[in-house]
Amino acid sequence: MTKGWSKSDWRAKPRIQMPDYPDQAALQAVEGQLSKYPPLVFAGEARRLRKQLAEVAEGRAFILQGGDCAESFAEFSADNIRDTFRVMLQMAVVLTYAAKVPVVKIGRMAGQFAKPRSAPTEVIGGVELPSYRGDIIHGFDPTPEARRPDPARMLQAYTQAAASLNLLRAFSTGGFADIHRVHSWTLGFADQDKAERYREMSNRISDALDFMTAAGVNADTAHTLHTVEFYTSHEALLLEYEEALCRIDSTTGLPVAGSGHMIWIGDRTRQPDGAHVEFCRGVQNPIGLKCGPTTTAEDLKVLMAKLNPANEPGRLTLIARFGAGKVAEHLPRLIRAVREEGANVVWSCDPMHGNTIKSSSGYKTRTFNAVLGEVREFFAVHKDEGTIPGGVHFEMTGKDVTECTGGLRAVSDEDLSSRYHTACDPRLNASQSLELAFLVAEELSSRRYIGRRTAL
Ligand code: PEP
Ligand code: CO
Repeated sequence: MTKGWSKSDWRAKPRIQMPDYPDQAALQAVEGQLSKYPPLVFAGEARRLRKQLAEVAEGRAFILQGGDCAESFAEFSADNIRDTFRVMLQMAVVLTYAAKVPVVKIGRMAGQFAKPRSAPTEVIGGVELPSYRGDIIHGFDPTPEARRPDPARMLQAYTQAAASLNLLRAFSTGGFADIHRVHSWTLGFADQDKAERYREMSNRISDALDFMTAAGVNADTAHTLHTVEFYTSHEALLLEYEEALCRIDSTTGLPVAGSGHMIWIGDRTRQPDGAHVEFCRGVQNPIGLKCGPTTTAEDLKVLMAKLNPANEPGRLTLIARFGAGKVAEHLPRLIRAVREEGANVVWSCDPMHGNTIKSSSGYKTRTFNAVLGEVREFFAVHKDEGTIPGGVHFEMTGKDVTECTGGLRAVSDEDLSSRYHTACDPRLNASQSLELAFLVAEELSSRRYIGRRTAL
C-alpha cells in the first residue's frame, strides 16, 4: 500500500484549508518536538478496528461514531468527556439490543481540533476576521491577534488528546463501562419519558445478564461484559500535525497515523490529487471519506483506488452527508460506482453536515427532523439497493446544550441562545442523541438488514 510513499510527500501536492504559519522557524521547532513524542494510539489497535469495520461491511456489526464538531481547549474537562462517553454507551446499548450485533464505538474525540471552513473570512461585530479553524490552529476570540495561526497550539492539542484518551481508556476498562451498570447510566437523565424507555430496556438486559450468570457464564466470557472497546477518530486536516505523529509500525513495518485510530478526509479536502488524500493513502489506519452532493462517481472511483488499492475490507468507510431530501438523488449513483469497481467499502451516514441552517434567531442550527430524515433515507436507499447501511456519524455531546432544534423535549429557535456552547457546528444534546438512537434502532430492527448474511 505504501510503496513509494513517504509521510512528507503531501507537501508537494496542492494544500487547501490549512493555515499559512507566519513563523516558519517556530513551526519547524514544534514539528521536531511532536515527532519525538509517543504516538497516541498503536498500530495493533488501528488494525483491530479495521477488522471490526470489515465485520460492519458484512452486516455483522454497526458503527456508532460521535462527538464534538470541534473539541476546544476551553471546554476540556473530565465531566465533558465522561458525559459524551456515557451517552455513546447508552446509544450503543440501545443499538446493540435492537440490531443484535456488536456496535463499534468511535469517538470524534481526542484529536478533533482542526476545522475546514466554507469561507476564508467571517464578519463578527462588523469586523472581518480570518474564519475560526479550530483550537489547534488559533484562538476562538474574534480579534486579529487571536486568529493568528500559532504552531505551539499543536502541542497543547496533543497534550489534551493524550489526557482525553487516557481517561477514555480508564472509563472503558476500569469498571465505568461494565454492562451491569447499565442502570446507573440513566442517572442525570432529565427526560422522564426517555428515562422510562431506557430503564425498560435496561431491565430486560439485566434479566438476560442474571440468566447468563445463573447459567454459569464463566469469568473469561464475562470479561467482555466489564469493559468496552472505544476508538478515537478525527478529520486529518492539519497535515503538519499528522505527519509529526506518523510512525512506523514495528510489527508490519508500515506507516501508521499515531494521532487517532481512524482518520477521515473531509468533504472539502477530498481532491484526488490533493495533499490530504496523499497523506491518508499511505497510513494503514482505517480511513473515512466524506461524500457530499458534489462527489462525482469518477472521483469516487479514483479515490477508492488510491485509498484502498488492495481492496481490503474495513480499510475505507464512505461517510454519506448529502442532506435530508437529497439522499435518493446521490447515494444510488455512488453505490453504483462502488459496485462497478467491485470495491469493498463500509457505508456510514453523517446526517449532520448536509443539514446545517441558520435559525430565525440567527444561530447556526440543525433540526432533529432533518437529521432523522436523512438517516431514514439512507436506510431506505440501502434497502432498495440491497447494500448494507453500516453505521451513523453524529455531532453530539453528553451535555444538555441547546444547539439543534426539535426532539421530544423540543428545543425551539428561541431556546438556542440559552445553552449554545459549540465552538463550531451545532450538536445534538444528550436527550436528542438517545432519542435518535432509539429511532435508528427501530430502523435497524424493523428493516432487518443487519445480520442478514450471518443468518443465511
Ligand atoms: C465535520 O465532520 O465536522 C465536517 C466538517 O464535515 P464535512 O467535511 O462532511 O463537511
Ligand atoms: Co461539523
